Amino acid sequence: MTEIETLKADLLSSVEGASDLAALEAVRLDALGKKGRISVQLKRLGALEPEQRKQTGQALNQVKDELAEAISARQKLLEAEALSAQLEAERVDISLPVQQPLAGNIHPLSRTVEEIAAIFADMGFSIAEGPDIETDFYNFTALNIPPEHPARQEHDTFYLRPDAENVRPVLRTHTSPVQIRTMQKEKPPIRIIVPGRTYRSDHDATHSPMFHQCEGLVIGENIHMGHLKGCLIDFCRAFFGVDDLPVRFRPSFFPFTEPSAEVDIGCRRVDGKLEIGAGDDWLEILGSGMVHPKVIENCGMNPDEVQGFAFGMGVERLAMLKYGISDLRTFYDSDLRWLKHYGFLPIDVPALHTGLDEGV
Ligand code: DAH
Repeated sequence: MTEIETLKADLLSSVEGASDLAALEAVRLDALGKKGRISVQLKRLGALEPEQRKQTGQALNQVKDELAEAISARQKLLEAEALSAQLEAERVDISLPVQQPLAGNIHPLSRTVEEIAAIFADMGFSIAEGPDIETDFYNFTALNIPPEHPARQEHDTFYLRPDAENVRPVLRTHTSPVQIRTMQKEKPPIRIIVPGRTYRSDHDATHSPMFHQCEGLVIGENIHMGHLKGCLIDFCRAFFGVDDLPVRFRPSFFPFTEPSAEVDIGCRRVDGKLEIGAGDDWLEILGSGMVHPKVIENCGMNPDEVQGFAFGMGVERLAMLKYGISDLRTFYDSDLRWLKHYGFLPIDVPALHTGLDEGV
């Protein structure tokens, strides 16, 4: 065996013997590094006779190529081995049961407000808000309920401590004061709904000292009772999801509207259970009317130039009717079992309404 063949055999067997990538790199440096065994021999070629230089040069270069190939093959093998060892070591047991993340539920009241808002949004209404603590002026006087008006006694008002001028703020007894606040700062046309908390000193299965209402107000030129009726009929049908739901307007009285109407929907009671839709019974669901000229005047507008209609509904009552909840007090118990039963998953796609005409 020539010296070069011996060198080749030796190096190739070192490559085979390299048990990891670091050892392989050491073999490579030993052969091909600056002072490696092949490199050294290549450097010596210059001192040889031309014929021998050619032969030895060819032989050395062949060894160099073969060695490079062997190293690269070994490197691939070692890398593959290292990867499988790593995968083995970092194995994840995907057979373990996943712990279900706890999902919250949407409270039926929030859901009901969302539904009401979506339906009115479709008709071009936006949402307005006002303070829970109101002045007597916004809660009563501006709404055409003067100090000695009997309607004041009907609202079991929570009064707060009098201020420096001996004026007693109130917890708003309805969302109607936001009508006034909106008319004072916005110019017609106005189309708003006002969902919000309201307060009355009352507590039984159908009353809670804090409850929710949703007010509505439309102000513009030539707004008439036909608009009120069309808007509220569309709302009732969309909310209860009954296309031909009978809706009745019954004359009523509110100090801030003239004329006023209470809105009833058709229903029937079967074995003590309420069915909304057909039937020859009626169920009252909201109050409404044409905004009283005095209220329009109180807000600095001329009732000969602009008119409007307003309405107010109890959110709890609508939620109870739609979702078959019998006791109003359970809304505020924060009982998780109740919430799981009556609540809504956030991912539920709200099937809120279909094809309402645009505009009032
Ligand atoms: N504010 C009334 C209440 O609390 C509800 C209401 C009735 C509001 C008629 C209105 C309306 O805007 O026009 O009982």
